Amino acid sequence: MQNIAVLVSGNGSNLQALLDARAQGKIPGGRIALVISSRPGAYALSRAEQAGVPTQVVNPDDYESRLEFDEALCEMLQDFQIDLVVLAGFMYILGPAMLQAYPNRILNVHPSLIPAFCGDGFYGLRVHQAVLEAGVPETGATVHLVNEVTDGGPILLQKKVAVHPGDTPETLQRRVLEEAEWVLLPQATQQLCEQLEHRQ
Ligand code: GRF
Repeated sequence: MQNIAVLVSGNGSNLQALLDARAQGKIPGGRIALVISSRPGAYALSRAEQAGVPTQVVNPDDYESRLEFDEALCEMLQDFQIDLVVLAGFMYILGPAMLQAYPNRILNVHPSLIPAFCGDGFYGLRVHQAVLEAGVPETGATVHLVNEVTDGGPILLQKKVAVHPGDTPETLQRRVLEEAEWVLLPQATQQLCEQLEHRQ
């Protein structure tokens, strides 16, 4: 059984999808052992508390450098004996300490079909805005392993989502969450738990 930490910064609807999937027996290979928010007061923290999952806040404003923030995250994950990390709307790029401590053990969900509409500056509604400006008929979501390239690690799962006439960034964001992100993230998490089980 792998110990999973979910890192969040905001609403936490992807965290909710993981908590629900776990409660429904869809992530038999892991338990959600810790939720870390970069923002005190993030709604994601209430979701975790409601599900009885321990929470911590690691706020980048409390550290002098990104390096120290990264090391604090690492230390906390190790205190909780975390095996794998899921970035679910976490607004910060991880540094070398995290990548070295958790090689091929960090998942991220991105709301587009990587390599389209990803990389530096493509986050939140900006991704969906860019999709609409480009006029493409479909978009989607991607779950990938995290390495030193932003949104550039090996892809685990992708799912397409149609763009509808009249979509706004908000309506498109919602459809991508519902049809793709909330489906893929629990699946990829279980997949990685199984792989880690076999590596041990
Ligand atoms: C999601 O679209 C995710 O792909 C992106 O940030 C958003 C977070 O939403 N990285 P939530 O906090 O899980 O509701």
